Amino acid sequence: MKRATILGTGSAVPAKVLTNFDLERLVDTTDEWITTRTGISERRIASEGEYTSTFATRAAERAMAMAGITAEELDLIIVATITPDFPFPATACLVQHNLKAARAAAFDISAACSGFLYGLSIVEKMIATGSASKVLLIGAEVLSRITDWTDRNTCCLFGDGAGAVVIGIGEGEAGILSTHIHSDGSYWELLHQPGVGNRNPAVQQTLDNRLVFLQMQGNEVFKLAVRAMEEAAHEALQSNGLGIDDLDLLIPHQANRRIIDAIGKRLGLAEDKVFVNLQRYGNTSAASIPIALDEANRTGRIMAGNLVLFDAFGGGLTWASVLVRWQKTGKENP
Ligand code: ACO
Repeated sequence: MKRATILGTGSAVPAKVLTNFDLERLVDTTDEWITTRTGISERRIASEGEYTSTFATRAAERAMAMAGITAEELDLIIVATITPDFPFPATACLVQHNLKAARAAAFDISAACSGFLYGLSIVEKMIATGSASKVLLIGAEVLSRITDWTDRNTCCLFGDGAGAVVIGIGEGEAGILSTHIHSDGSYWELLHQPGVGNRNPAVQQTLDNRLVFLQMQGNEVFKLAVRAMEEAAHEALQSNGLGIDDLDLLIPHQANRRIIDAIGKRLGLAEDKVFVNLQRYGNTSAASIPIALDEANRTGRIMAGNLVLFDAFGGGLTWASVLVRWQKTGKENP
């Protein structure tokens, strides 16, 4: 069996910054409330003419440059997103076109904030079975366009951006050690975008009732997220015969600082072993883990041989964990 490994990372976020103080002018909120309840200080927002495929393509180019591979070498492109450019074709097809990756098959996956880890699970198996040898996996979102900017309960939480990885065949013990993916559709209403699909199609009533915007019962999601992410972390370590002390870094989905702190505490992980960058980007759903991973990689926060755990939770509900033995990626990672 061939072991899949990450050969390069990249990310791209919009230039436009929206701070908590900017939000104070939009809705009845304060920087103090947002910072204490979420840990978020600012988020990036796409400008006119910028789409999910825009950031996905930029992040992909950076990951490919780090991995030292060309677009022609790619067998497959997957984009994890809940905010595609269009309902169809897949945003992955637009990225394929932008990159001129002529040989690559391309499709999207929808698993909300767990999308990137669902993608890793698919890619790991395609590489192990020999169905693909060079894959581009991207998590990309423009959540600002499905955010209700009149709803203070949700508008302070989300941001836009993309993160990408190039995955190939690993050397020795390095690479993806395990992937675990889960879902429970009975909770679908806790976090969803009611329109525009065939239940609430593109008619005036859907717009008038604000059904095109994301809706969330934050409190319920919070409790379920902590429990599911803790279980997913244990599942990853136990299935590899490893313990919490073996872990060098946890990169959790960046939804809320309080969720991340609660998981770190329940797992008994030191604070410096948990990667957090949500103060600058907010919750970027499927893009959150690959953006954090790229930052950790480029700043030398993860080194060859490190044991890194990704842990995610999101709409669906979906949750997932992926354990990786890190391999040197280009010159950024000594
Ligand atoms: N500013 C000021 N007050 C606010 C704001 C705001 N921006 N938002 C809500 N409030 C108020 C509420 O109206 C409520 O007031 P009330 O008591 O008078 O009714 C009060 O603050 C408390 O509201 P809660 O919802 O109980 O606040 P909570 O502490 O739970 O924080 C939050 C809300 C931040 C949404 C939190 O529940 C959370 O992070 N949930 C999980 C989000 C998540 O992980 N999502 C999963 C991934 S996302 C994806 O898959 C796309």
